[in-house]
Amino acid sequence: MPTYTINANTWSFDDTGTGTPIVLVHGFPLDRRVWAQVVPRLAKQRVIAVDLPGFGQSTLAKPFTIASLAVDLHQLLAHLRALPAFVGGLSMGGYVSLAFAKQFAGDMRGLILVDTKAAGDSAEAKAGRVAMAALVREKGSAAVTEQMLPKMLGAGALPTRPALARQLTQMMEACPAPTIAAACLAMKDRDDFTALLPELKMPVLIVVGETDAITPPAMAAAMRAAITGAKLAVIPAAGHLAPIEQPQLVGQAMAQFV
Ligand code: MLT
Repeated sequence: MPTYTINANTWSFDDTGTGTPIVLVHGFPLDRRVWAQVVPRLAKQRVIAVDLPGFGQSTLAKPFTIASLAVDLHQLLAHLRALPAFVGGLSMGGYVSLAFAKQFAGDMRGLILVDTKAAGDSAEAKAGRVAMAALVREKGSAAVTEQMLPKMLGAGALPTRPALARQLTQMMEACPAPTIAAACLAMKDRDDFTALLPELKMPVLIVVGETDAITPPAMAAAMRAAITGAKLAVIPAAGHLAPIEQPQLVGQAMAQFV
């Protein structure tokens, strides 16, 4: 598995296939394995799935912001000669993708926003981030997993898809506490990208699980309405983690788009 060090943080990633580069950024507190079943559906393309610093197999030495992650991702892609690329992300990865679009639109072929939103955090959400950072420092990743898990998968999926629930629990619990705390603070202070949406001139695909409880279809529809020409794919029988709940449908939507 290749790695590349940028500003003291070492990024791990998979880089497979040839053709138009598609870059995929995972959500919180997850890692690049969320794309494992999506990537085979993009077999005609070059797919680069990254672990953000501190997540998965990447290491965290220096704290980050959502904007700095986009800058470092751009440096990684330049190093890999993978620009211009489609850049896409799930939830927190969508925030990074939006930050990328804000700074490096000229190096993008398109933007893919999966189960994510453009708006910044409300005052209440910011307070929740601070509380979660404190919780993980005090009680560890399992406490955060316990708090988040019920909202992650689609309606009814936790009891009916035990293997998926187990896989997700393991991924979340494996996320180191310092990474979770750093990500909470980075998300709290991220830009509000709402004003960016009408400025986007590139092709945009928005994907949302039909029962996404964290970034619901209404938010996805509002983003679509704000971006001229954006396409929207609503994924049936999926919640906030459509790429692991319905990888075939998500892969299909992405393959058609690119
Ligand atoms: C995610 O799935 O990445 C998170 O739910 C994003 C967030 O907490 O805003």
